[in-house]
Amino acid sequence: MWRARRSNLAVPGSNPKMLEKAKGLAADQVFLDLEDSVAPIAKPDARKNIVAALNEGGYGNKIRTVRVNDWTTSWTYRDVVEVVENAGHNLDCIMLPKVQNVGQVHALDLLLTQIERTMGFEVGRIGIEAQIENASGLNNVNDIAAASPRIETIIFGPADFMASINMKSLVVGEQPPGYTEGDAYHYILMRILMAARANNKAAIDGPYLQIRDPDGYRRVSERSAALGFDGKWVLHPDQLAIANEVFSPRQDDYDHAELILDAYDYYTSADGGARGAVMLGDEMIDEASRKMALVISSKGRAAGMQRTQTFEPPQG
Ligand code: GLV
Ligand code: MG
Repeated sequence: MWRARRSNLAVPGSNPKMLEKAKGLAADQVFLDLEDSVAPIAKPDARKNIVAALNEGGYGNKIRTVRVNDWTTSWTYRDVVEVVENAGHNLDCIMLPKVQNVGQVHALDLLLTQIERTMGFEVGRIGIEAQIENASGLNNVNDIAAASPRIETIIFGPADFMASINMKSLVVGEQPPGYTEGDAYHYILMRILMAARANNKAAIDGPYLQIRDPDGYRRVSERSAALGFDGKWVLHPDQLAIANEVFSPRQDDYDHAELILDAYDYYTSADGGARGAVMLGDEMIDEASRKMALVISSKGRAAGMQRTQTFEPPQG
């Protein structure tokens, strides 16, 4: 089943209080960070904090991810070895930032496989989340999405991306002043989304740093949700409910999707006349409608939504 990743809560690994608090928050996913929210001298302790928080438990049904440092640093291998050897049972994914090419995914995949074998863990269970944060990563995004069966998500990292392409703005996720031609992020978001969809991975939008501006967060979230993205990062508890709402289907869309699935099921069956294109109310539905409905219904079911209408086959 498709797992909901509407809200992905960022938690600095150097802050034991926040590691604890995150356990009680209504995020679909947490990522415990060893990268940019942790100062270089705090990284060794942050590894220990994260291992302790994971092994202590309490994250409930949340997807538990640890973000390691990228392969151009000297920290990555120790991040992975220390966290996975000591807390591999209590961990779902490793997030790899600033991914530039398939080699970097393969390196992490191989390292995970060795650790899993050595520790007697199930080989291949731990997933990889790949952050696309620079021009090389975006150029190679299709290959990155296909690089390993461990890949679960492709994530847009807007802050690093803006820096890497010299975008003339310091406000992450908002349009750069002077650009009036459309959405400066559209091309990047669409390439990430296409790579994710072509390889059956989730597409995740990154952070919005103006944490005192919930309206701005909602506006930017709605932009990527409308395109088809599955979720967004949350940097502050105030952003949580907005992400969970914006990346869930609307109730009437969810109800409608479930009705289409039931109606299509019935009409294509022998009892329903084995028809491929039929009317549902004022709307013609066919196999393509079923596929669209399936997307909404899967997201709604994963989010725990309840339908409020049922399909009644016509009598007689
Ligand atoms: C996230 O890592 C970003 O750079 O936006
Ligand atoms: Mg980044």
